[in-house]
Amino acid sequence: MNRKKTILDIQKMKAAGEKITVLTSYDYPFTRIMDDCGIDMILIGDSVGVVFSGYDNTLPVTVDEMVYHTRAVVRARPKALVIADMPFLSYQTDVRDARLNAGRLVKEGGAEAVKLEGGAHVADTIRAIVDMDIPVMAHIGLTPQSIHRMGGYKVQGKKEEQAQRLLDDAKAVEEAGAFAVTLEGIPLRLAERITAELSIPTIGIGAGPHCDGQVLVIHDILGLCEKYSPKFVKRYGDANALITSAVSSYIAEVKKGEFPDEGHSFS
Ligand code: KIV
Repeated sequence: MNRKKTILDIQKMKAAGEKITVLTSYDYPFTRIMDDCGIDMILIGDSVGVVFSGYDNTLPVTVDEMVYHTRAVVRARPKALVIADMPFLSYQTDVRDARLNAGRLVKEGGAEAVKLEGGAHVADTIRAIVDMDIPVMAHIGLTPQSIHRMGGYKVQGKKEEQAQRLLDDAKAVEEAGAFAVTLEGIPLRLAERITAELSIPTIGIGAGPHCDGQVLVIHDILGLCEKYSPKFVKRYGDANALITSAVSSYIAEVKKGEFPDEGHSFS
């Protein structure tokens, strides 16, 4: 498709049985490259805090940081649908805060949709944002902003009671008007069941092969995050090795006086 993708295109893909591809991006050059490759949706994830800014988790990320990164992504004019994450404390306090901060990500950042974490307990918040015509992607299962409640990044929904709660959460966010839902860190059979029971697309990460689409963090597929390596991540390239080789060669050539040579100088 050679035109801008919208939430309608994404929803049609579920109906057509076409898998939806999603990657995170936080800047202009990565966005340009992945958009040229034909990615369907780009998520400015609050994972930016971990893989880009070096925080221990996503909790310190602010709305200002998200706006900054969203603007950088949007400047690449991607055809992919652009979704910005709502960071911790930007929607949990009350619905008015949630509406203002979602509005900032759209108005100042240029996002076309926002994502927030939580199930039935954030349904009213989702409804309030959708009511101001901002599409919302929900995010249930392993929700990284709940790291302290979960006691770490642990697979959710393994026990039947927990699984039923996640199914209820998925239905609640669909009912609240979310256009899609991220399923993170849940057993593949539960993800399959949720996908079958919802009419909106499910986007999996650590949720097996039966979701309508998949999302991964760009730094993870490129081998650029040495802090952690979850089972669900597949490395498609080794940018670490590429950068190490280029930087080492540069250092060696400058030290030896080989660079800059005449070809890289002005006469
Ligand atoms: O912050 C993020 O990048 C995310 C995805 C990995 C789902 O929420």
